Amino acid sequence: MADARPEDRPSFSMRVIRWQMANGRHDLPWQQTRDAYRIWLSETMLQQTRVQTVIPYYARFLACFPTLEALAEAPLESVLELWSGLGYYARARNLHRCAKTIVTERAGKFSADPVETAGLPGIGRSTAAAISVFAFGRRAAILDGNVKRVLARCFGVASGDSPAQQERSMWALAEVLLPENDIEAYTQGMMDLGATICLRSKPVCDACPLQPVCVACREGRQAELPRPTPRKALPERTTSVLLLSDGRRVFLERRPPSGIWGGLLCLPEAISESATSFARRQGCRLLGTQALPPITHAFTHFRLTLQVLRCDVEVISLQARENGCEWLPLDDVAGAALPTPIKKLLLSLDR
Ligand code: ADE
Ligand code: SF4
Repeated sequence: MADARPEDRPSFSMRVIRWQMANGRHDLPWQQTRDAYRIWLSETMLQQTRVQTVIPYYARFLACFPTLEALAEAPLESVLELWSGLGYYARARNLHRCAKTIVTERAGKFSADPVETAGLPGIGRSTAAAISVFAFGRRAAILDGNVKRVLARCFGVASGDSPAQQERSMWALAEVLLPENDIEAYTQGMMDLGATICLRSKPVCDACPLQPVCVACREGRQAELPRPTPRKALPERTTSVLLLSDGRRVFLERRPPSGIWGGLLCLPEAISESATSFARRQGCRLLGTQALPPITHAFTHFRLTLQVLRCDVEVISLQARENGCEWLPLDDVAGAALPTPIKKLLLSLDR
């Protein structure tokens, strides 16, 4: 039945804004600032990591790098170390590159215009829009995974379009829904709804301000919306790595700055060289070897399997022979910039 008066039929954005003001999140650390640097940092950390995990990392990061200039001047290794545990280290490398770019090419300032910000290292269209909204109060549309889910359900978006067409129509929808005022509350409200109400499984529709207008809720189709994009099977790659340890330290090699696990410490790859000869080259004597269960890790474009050969060694000279190599004390593994699966393996090692 149609509502009698216009004020009884609030717009989509009015529903979100009112709900955000009354029921949304207001105390997150990055909501207490308009500093574009801080907002960019929080948005980058939040791209693939949940709020509760991000909060302490965000505080530590800012304590160490309080300004864009401080970040731009820091060595990449310190940035990666502060990122250790957050995963998706490409974000940290891009953050560092982006800081340098803004300092050298943009006089150290973020633009208020999302079109100018998008395309900087690590900043896509949605992150650029979030920075423009939260730092500058500009009207701009975000569209991250959470917001896509809310829109797909509320508007019943499940067409047979190609993924690219679907992406374009979701952006068009996100743009057309923007309010004239209160863009900050609206944007935060869309994020908050996606994160706390319109959950992937078991959305809490009874607490949702969009329930009266939601297609998925009306038709009981929450579980089938949004339609998952079919994933292609990932190509497989396998490589062998050596885990040289004397029970107290482990031999690690820094990866080149670009490519997978760029800039992180990693187990050395064994490329057509025996473990005995590799160990000798690194100043130690091989006492015994043991194959460990393989580690698999899914990257965006392939799946990697690491065959790990544990090599018990007696270290004769702790002086690493090659650039970028080091003997890391096993006690320091937790705080080191290591790929997550390697860190897990090293932490689980019997000594
Ligand atoms: N996820 C992405 N951006 C966010 C923000 N600003 N607040 C809470 N969660 C978010
Ligand atoms: Fe999501 Fe339910 Fe709200 Fe619809 S009513 S937007 S499905 S939480």
